[in-house]
Amino acid sequence: MTASYIIAIDQGTTGTTMLVLDRAGQIAHKYYCPLPQSYPEPGWVEHDPELIRETVWNGLREIMALPWLKEGAVAAIGLTNQRETIVMWERDTGRPVYPAIVWQCRRTAEACARLEREDHGATIRAKTGLRLDPYFSATKLQWLLENRPGLRERAERGELACGTVDSWLIWQLTGGRVHATDYSNASRTLLFNIHELRWDPELLELFGVPASLLPEVRPSAGDFGWTDPRWTGVSLPITGVLGDQQAALFGQGCLQPGMMKNTYGTGCFLLMNTGTAPSPPQHGMLATIAWGLGGQVTYALEGSVFNGGTVVQWLRDELGLLQRAADSQTLALSVPDSGGVYFVPAFTGSGAPYWDPYARGTIVGLTRGTTRAQLVRAALEGIAYQVLEVVECMSLSVGRKPAELRVDGGAAANDFLLQFQADICDLGIRRNRSLELTGTGAAFIAGLAVGFWNDPGELAGLVTLERDFQPAMAGTERERLVAGWRRAVERSGGWAG
Ligand code: G3P
Repeated sequence: MTASYIIAIDQGTTGTTMLVLDRAGQIAHKYYCPLPQSYPEPGWVEHDPELIRETVWNGLREIMALPWLKEGAVAAIGLTNQRETIVMWERDTGRPVYPAIVWQCRRTAEACARLEREDHGATIRAKTGLRLDPYFSATKLQWLLENRPGLRERAERGELACGTVDSWLIWQLTGGRVHATDYSNASRTLLFNIHELRWDPELLELFGVPASLLPEVRPSAGDFGWTDPRWTGVSLPITGVLGDQQAALFGQGCLQPGMMKNTYGTGCFLLMNTGTAPSPPQHGMLATIAWGLGGQVTYALEGSVFNGGTVVQWLRDELGLLQRAADSQTLALSVPDSGGVYFVPAFTGSGAPYWDPYARGTIVGLTRGTTRAQLVRAALEGIAYQVLEVVECMSLSVGRKPAELRVDGGAAANDFLLQFQADICDLGIRRNRSLELTGTGAAFIAGLAVGFWNDPGELAGLVTLERDFQPAMAGTERERLVAGWRRAVERSGGWAG
């Protein structure tokens, strides 16, 4: 039978989404399972790698049991993942030796500051496009090897393997036969030279990471092995692997240089396609690999904001101000403005463009008359202000203002947020019909690798516009609001230092 579907696995920070996509790019089935978060110490964030695997196993089981999904109907699997998070496991048993240290975890802030003081920042930036921040994988690996007894010796004896979540899942899916990652995920580790496309020996030495621990790095579209039926119950080829933000860039059809997207997920990640040569990372932006496809590597500039959707979750789960995330829109629209309240959601430090691991969440401008609705509105506006600052720095980096911003991710369903985003950025915002563009991007890459789709141009037409948000705010009002935001951001800086 001719295969009619691609399965996308999108292993994100707060949960695992899996999609069954047809040739028209339509979602025929969606699976979702939330992932518990663990905060063992202030500023630390961990996941259970076995639970991560479990969510994927359950998704595969649910999908393969769909009555309409006949044998031979699935052409391939595309895998995309939360980036930078690391897992270390035993090669012979496949068991993790420690919880996954999540990208948001701040435990290595001091190690980064020390390396910066020792003047390693410029070399690291030149080789990797990144900066010395606990966000990236290398210092997390270094921490594990230095702080967990016996791990360094075991790593040196070749008993252990490690990688980002894609590598962990590829190993698990293939029954331990493949230890690999792709260029886009490798480019988030601080260990990968994005110009030479290899693990950089000088950086491995600097962070004390034995090369034998690391996965083989492959282009994003290609062979990543077959799922092992003994472990997963099914035998399917994995032919597309890339980091979730890069996958969303691809899924959004941002295939030409200058095209840009923002995903409103746990955080906000704004990426601009910069073509086949890396752009210098300036103005707080990162240079990163978007994907390796068809013998070519595409690069991107990225502004990573650590907390976006988390602020709505926090209002709902910790403060009990919302019953459902969707209520935030109704509440925000019930007041004309935030009443002078600003909410800087730097819960886990700030990313682009400030890169301050010691910044913390801050609410300013409260009065005795501040209402719940104003606080919720300030929180949503805070997400948009953060994105504004990245758009500004991205524009400075490339010397022009982008034509539009494409958006996706859960919070992109919020019309209030997107209208405020358009107003505050003075930029058109494009929302597509599907907000599941991360999984879609991974499916597209996997499908291109097996000839399910023939060329990327064909895919851009599969992602269709749902609504454009056009700016409608007066310039003077915008300037007044943004000036207040900048004062609020200053107050959140360095708080935990
Ligand atoms: O860099 C972190 C990013 O990949 C996390 O994405 O969607 O899991 O919040 P998400």
